[in-house]
Amino acid sequence: MSTPLKSSFLLSYLCTLPPALLSREILMADSEALPSLAGDPVAVEALLRAVFGVVVDEAIQKGTSVSQKVCEWKEPEELKQLLDLELRSQGESQEQILERCRAVIRYSVKTGHPRFFNQLFSGLDPHALAGRIITESLNTSQYTYEIAPVFVLMEEEVLRKLRALVGWSSGDGIFCPGGSISNMYAVNLARYQRYPDCKQRGLRTLPPLALFTSKECHYSIQKGAAFLGLGTDSVRVVKADERGKMVPEDLERQIGMAEAEGAVPFLVSATSGTTVLGAFDPLEAIADVCQRHGLWLHVDAAWGGSVLLSQTHRHLLDGIQRADSVAWNPHKLLAAGLQCSALLLQDTSNLLKRCHGSQASYLFQQDKFYDVALDTGDKVVQCGRRVDCLKLWLMWKAQGDQGLERRIDQAFVLARYLVEEMKKREGFELVMEPEFVNVCFWFVPLTLRGKQESPDYHERLSK
Ligand SMILES: *Cc1c(COP(=O)(O)O)cnc(C)c1O
Ligand SMILES: *[C@@H]1O[C@H](CO)[C@@H](O)[C@H](O)[C@H]1NC(C)=O
Repeated sequence: MSTPLKSSFLLSYLCTLPPALLSREILMADSEALPSLAGDPVAVEALLRAVFGVVVDEAIQKGTSVSQKVCEWKEPEELKQLLDLELRSQGESQEQILERCRAVIRYSVKTGHPRFFNQLFSGLDPHALAGRIITESLNTSQYTYEIAPVFVLMEEEVLRKLRALVGWSSGDGIFCPGGSISNMYAVNLARYQRYPDCKQRGLRTLPPLALFTSKECHYSIQKGAAFLGLGTDSVRVVKADERGKMVPEDLERQIGMAEAEGAVPFLVSATSGTTVLGAFDPLEAIADVCQRHGLWLHVDAAWGGSVLLSQTHRHLLDGIQRADSVAWNPHKLLAAGLQCSALLLQDTSNLLKRCHGSQASYLFQQDKFYDVALDTGDKVVQCGRRVDCLKLWLMWKAQGDQGLERRIDQAFVLARYLVEEMKKREGFELVMEPEFVNVCFWFVPLTLRGKQESPDYHERLSK
């Protein structure tokens, strides 16, 4: 805190603190170092080296070894006993703490395990993990350049790269805490763009609104409508065809119906890679409808966005460049690790900041010693925000576009392989030929084969 500029910043920051905090903050500025919480730097280092060892051995080596279990499964009551969860007044020794770390890993699900086949992500990318470890260790917040100089610039570059894959040479964006939140941002931005008054005056200034999405959409659209005060009734559910794709003619029809009921259509959320079937909505046709009616087009590409990296398969998202906003989760198909979700915007009018900013004077001073346009804090509704760009950036540096493209292509090849193997076997029934990496099928047990006509067939099959 030596330069005059910095101390004047410190002063303005201190003035905003409650008096109880002042003495501590001044101590931080004056003294050489705060006493470490654990008291003993040697012990701190020993603990962390030991923990890293446990992580590498237990979570990474064993956790990705096919000869080990995905999870040591226990029923909740037994697990509570085993973990000894209660927090007590007396602290524990390093040995005990290390044993606790091992137990946490032992009873947790190893999502990097080759036999982990759960929701939409799996595998372990070592570079992304390295990025996550560095992120956690630095414990900084993404909101201003002064506290996150590296990550502010890095986030900008990663978002620029993702936008370029969408097909935009300019625009805006932000990393959000997950695709659900990215979707909610898109809805809020679309509403604000149409009714800027709503930021100050709230919902009472608005007519009843309508947004449109298909029956196969992710449930976060409904949640978002509730959370943003639109109400779930404002979500109009458009038909999907037998492959799970939104039917543009039905979208057109639903828009007409909503208008006839006195609602104002403002947004369509198309899905690129639906969560269950892996369907890609026909974006060109949907963009035409949006253009005709002046509606914001959001593309929920949380799951399918990463297909844009594949020259072979990116045609599935043809038309995405006509969207106003795109949600894309590199934490799913790209295996960047939870969480890593980008909201991308075509907008260049600072819509994000206008919609979500509140110009907090203690954090976002306009007379800083760098370009304050770099401060991202007023783009979001959070205050502190995790660094989510490093894990993706580091993995991308290690893999290059080509390495990531190979991974995506390989996922398609594996899905195809699975389908071909199923076709060779009795008892497997495909729900449909997949066009993405979701392979939906029934396994029909011996006792039910050839009994499709019996009245309880579907109930028994489900069981
Ligand atoms: C997973 C998913 C989401 C939600 O993303 P989270 O990061 O889990 O909140 C939204 N849309 C689609 C299509 C998804 O598959
Ligand atoms: C991490 O940063 C937050 C502020 O964002 C701070 O409150 C907290 O004490 C830090 N934790 C550690 C362990 O450094």
